[in-house]
Amino acid sequence: MKKIIIAIDGLSGCGKSTTAKSVAKALKYAYIDSGSMYRAVTLHFLESGTELTNSEDIRQSLESVQLDFRTLEEGGSQRIFLNGRDVEDEIRDMEVSELVSEVSKIKEVREKLVAIQRNLGENRGVVMDGRDIGTVVFPGAELKVFMYADLNVRADRRRRELLDKGKSAAFEHIARNLNERDHIDSTRKESPLLKAADAVEMDTSHLTFDDQVEQILDLARDRMN
Ligand code: DC
Repeated sequence: MKKIIIAIDGLSGCGKSTTAKSVAKALKYAYIDSGSMYRAVTLHFLESGTELTNSEDIRQSLESVQLDFRTLEEGGSQRIFLNGRDVEDEIRDMEVSELVSEVSKIKEVREKLVAIQRNLGENRGVVMDGRDIGTVVFPGAELKVFMYADLNVRADRRRRELLDKGKSAAFEHIARNLNERDHIDSTRKESPLLKAADAVEMDTSHLTFDDQVEQILDLARDRMN
């Protein structure tokens, strides 16, 4: 069986990451959460007080960003490290969620992260999720999935996720943030969120998590032969 690249793009909060992680585990592929990279850069910009309207400030700030993925225990899930520091939990905070779409619009940020992402997929055998994976990062991916779901379903899932991590946020606040991010991500000039012409569409509003994973695995096995 040949190793393939699986690109999973779609709206914010429709279960891309959890689904992609499970698909990767089942296939023994690497899983790369590209959104976590945009979030880590956003955290760095927040902490360093980077001026988002000043391209020289952005360029300098980006030079001091070093990202890598590590697992803490054997078989555990990957966590993102920013300049050697584990930031996997911090990057999910609302403060980061509120700025990440603005940071993702910046050309210099996208150039740096797309280069890292292509490198990570060099040997194929990866599942990567994001917004532009099937269109820009890996236009030649053997399997592209475009996921979406009803806004209320997505906001409810995200609220539960935050609660599970001991964090809370009002449903309306989360829904507004998801909606705003969808809008900014879909209308930005640089690599907007778009369904690739050859992507398989998947509405996850009424699918169980197991169904989502199974459907993608079926499609993937098909493409591996
Ligand atoms: O997948 P996520 O919700 O954690 O992603 C956070 C933000 O990062 C999202 O609102 C847009 C941006 N992003 C992007 O522009 N391109 C990607 N490939 C992945 C994420």
